[in-house]
Amino acid sequence: VLQQRVVLARIPRGFVAEEDLRLAEEAAPGPGDVVDGEMLVRVLDLSIDPYLRGVLAGRHLGSAAVPLGGLVPGRSIAEVVVPSSGHAVGELVCVETGWQEWAIVRAADAQRVSMPEGVPRSAALGVLGMPGLTAYAAVTRFMALTPGDTVVVSAATGPVGSTAGQLARLAGCLTVAVVGGPEKARLATEYFGYAASVDRRAPDWVDRLAAACPDGVDAYLDNAGGEVLRGVVAQLAYGARVVLCGLMDQYNDGPPSVLPATPLIGRRATLHGLVVYDHEDLRPRFTARVATLLRDGRMRLLEERHAGLAAAPGAFCRLMRGENVGKVIVEVASRDADT
Ligand SMILES: NC(=O)c1ccc[n+]([C@@H]2O[C@H](COP(=O)([O-])OP(=O)(O)OC[C@H]3O[C@@H](n4cnc5c(N)ncnc54)[C@H](OP(=O)(O)O)[C@@H]3O)[C@@H](O)[C@H]2O)c1
Repeated sequence: VLQQRVVLARIPRGFVAEEDLRLAEEAAPGPGDVVDGEMLVRVLDLSIDPYLRGVLAGRHLGSAAVPLGGLVPGRSIAEVVVPSSGHAVGELVCVETGWQEWAIVRAADAQRVSMPEGVPRSAALGVLGMPGLTAYAAVTRFMALTPGDTVVVSAATGPVGSTAGQLARLAGCLTVAVVGGPEKARLATEYFGYAASVDRRAPDWVDRLAAACPDGVDAYLDNAGGEVLRGVVAQLAYGARVVLCGLMDQYNDGPPSVLPATPLIGRRATLHGLVVYDHEDLRPRFTARVATLLRDGRMRLLEERHAGLAAAPGAFCRLMRGENVGKVIVEVASRDADT
């Protein structure tokens, strides 16, 4: 049996282009290929994430570069077809599969997926998964919030930003979104409940941010880098906490993000560099809290869904250009139970 997979055709330069990735066909793994401790899984929902841009260029934390012709990595919600001990046929797991229809995975790397009533399983790739944990770590470990603080979040409608913004609002803070474009600015306030939003593309966005934060910025979650980071840091309040989380601008081969020292010193600010993998210890508390908030309707999620593996390269390009609206998911297959 043949399967589709997406492989690296060319190392991306600047904004990733669809031609950098290529759809390929090869023999799908079968039950006979599974050895002890492994499982055969069928990919259902594939997660598309910004860190993959760094992985493709061979510059994401310690991960090895993807060779030309190599499978594009990525996590999925997958259905167990050939289980290992402790797992069952038909069970849903969250696991690294890469961009392909079928995968053999180590059972020890697969996390069982269970969702609160009414929450889509793909939330385990977004607000209840790695991006959500990132936001939870930023807010609970580094922001040191007290009610009434002004909290600014960039990429504020994405899975990391929207989770952080909602957690900060629920902690009694005044939340301000920095987003790209008027549509997302509306979404930030009307759907995600930010008190105000600012379009980072507007020429006077720094003045608008200052107007939305009359007492200055007490805590800032930076997902953008570049000019957005500089613009927000210029508005810090005394004792501000800045969480450096993502550098969207720089991932696209933009210039290195540079921080101005003067406001950081003058405002006695604290900077935290965040890498989600350091915060696994928070996962049980994070999962319990966010699952409760989702179930009770006090937290919202938003997904941008694409149908079929062939749509993955285009979906990734949209994300890296900042055109996505919500967590980007590619539906690779549906379960019999879904139809
Ligand atoms: N440190 C960690 O451990 C960790 C873990 C997970 C994610 N992250 C980072 O968190 C950030 C958000 O991730 P996410 O998964 O929630 O993705 P996301 O917000 O859905 O997508 C990224 C968003 O970045 C915004 N953006 C800001 N400046 C941009 C620029 N110059 N070019 C393109 N887009 C730009 C865009 O939104 P607007 O147009 O609305 O600005 C875009 O939609 C990313 O930087 C990611 O790398 C870090």
